Amino acid sequence: MAEFKEAPAGAPAAQKLMTWVDNRFPASKMYKEHLSEYYAPKNFNFFYFFGSLAMLVLVIQIVTGIFLVMHYKPDANLAFASVEYIMRDVPWGWLVRYMHSTGASAFFVVVYMHMFRGMLYGSYRKPRELVWIFGCAIFLCLMAEAFMGYLLPWGQMSYWGAQVIVNLFAAVPFVGPDLALLIRGDYVVSDATLNRFFSFHVIAIPLVLLGLVAAHIIALHEVGSNNPDGVEIKAKKDENGRPLDGIPFHPYYTVHDILGVSVFLLIFSAVVFLAPEMGGYFLEYNNFIPADPLKTPAHIAPVWYFTPYYSMLRAVTDPMVNVFVVLVGVGAAVTLLLGRLTNTAKVVVIVASVVFIGLLKVFDAKFWGVVVMGGAVIIMFFLPWLDNSAAKSIRYRPNWHKWMYATFAINMLVLGYLGIKPPSDVGTLVSQVGTIFYFGFFLLMPWWSRIGEFKPVPDRVTFQPH
Ligand code: HEM
Repeated sequence: MAEFKEAPAGAPAAQKLMTWVDNRFPASKMYKEHLSEYYAPKNFNFFYFFGSLAMLVLVIQIVTGIFLVMHYKPDANLAFASVEYIMRDVPWGWLVRYMHSTGASAFFVVVYMHMFRGMLYGSYRKPRELVWIFGCAIFLCLMAEAFMGYLLPWGQMSYWGAQVIVNLFAAVPFVGPDLALLIRGDYVVSDATLNRFFSFHVIAIPLVLLGLVAAHIIALHEVGSNNPDGVEIKAKKDENGRPLDGIPFHPYYTVHDILGVSVFLLIFSAVVFLAPEMGGYFLEYNNFIPADPLKTPAHIAPVWYFTPYYSMLRAVTDPMVNVFVVLVGVGAAVTLLLGRLTNTAKVVVIVASVVFIGLLKVFDAKFWGVVVMGGAVIIMFFLPWLDNSAAKSIRYRPNWHKWMYATFAINMLVLGYLGIKPPSDVGTLVSQVGTIFYFGFFLLMPWWSRIGEFKPVPDRVTFQPH
């Protein structure tokens, strides 16, 4: 136990109170470690707003969610009407509901920007691997949270969206049908499904999410923030042990983040008050019709933030599986011919590729679609070990790497757009190319990230005071 400290005689009451608290709880110590003496690089740019914005949206979602639960009824016969009641009769209910529904989309906008920033500046690389892994786990939770939340209004899209996605699990070999039954709690999406999704959406996933966000921040503060130059500021410290290029998070970045928060709230309010449905992208029009298990909507599409992954799912047709077979074969041949492998390693490559090709042909395309969709998220966890580039930040990587990242972003937008549209021949072909690019980007990264002319990385961060 730490020694009890005494406030000096005649100290103000507030100081005495703080000393009393500090003797029992590390309040001042935590304030120093995480705010006033947390030294963050002084060259943060626009992209660094999104971490604090993600925290803000998390708070908005929790607070509005608490008020929604006061009036919402998790019952298949009452759910839709209870949401309408919130919208029409509960004082300010419309505002709370629109803040929550807009908040869901805002969460993904903010988190996608936050993740892309991490990719651009190599923020996932040593020593921040765990910061990234906690982030990827947060992303998975967010997806589950949004998916389950969407069932709750019990509209047509809630119902049929859940039906389509839960049915995907039935494609898993051997255990699939039982797995789908376990998720639904019934043979079709029903009241039982609504109840369990409610329970997960309101308590289970938010608890895990909050724990993961805490772990994310603790891990980040243990190693310190990266920055747009990808230079470790801890490498150059002054005589007091403070990083030369670091500034205290409070007051510098607390004030800086207020700017981000203000601009964000302006845009957020404009959407909430002027276009909460966002032309059917944030709240789909079909979801204003009560769920009808006997009437399938003509076109079922998930909300925009899932559509890049939905496109990848739909891209996996039988011919696409054949393309995978060829790619695995070519990959194995190139590894055998060009890789300097031992004989044992060669045998492993041959056996693994034959087994993989066999599996590709044994299980049907629908299952591989599910694998591709899940794999697209899971592959992100491995990013810290896929990137071999000599410089962390995109600033000091070969120019053509910038084009790779730009193409990656555009590819996600195109896949997202195609996922909203009904399937078409051209659309399927484009999503197939997009899916191959997506996986190629990650799987070939150990190779391509090393190639090209790197620029010298400076010792200190670049910073122009303004
Ligand atoms: C609820 C969601 C999330 C919250 C509240 C959150 C919060 C934060 C905050 C406050 C920071 C420090 C400020 C900043 O660097 O912007 C941060 C940094 C970071 N986050 Fe997140 N985050 C979330 C999701 C994610 C996800 C999904 C990923 C990646 C898959 C991720 C990866 C990172 C990385 C790599 C850093 C360090 C960045 C650097 O130092 O350059 N985060 N996060």
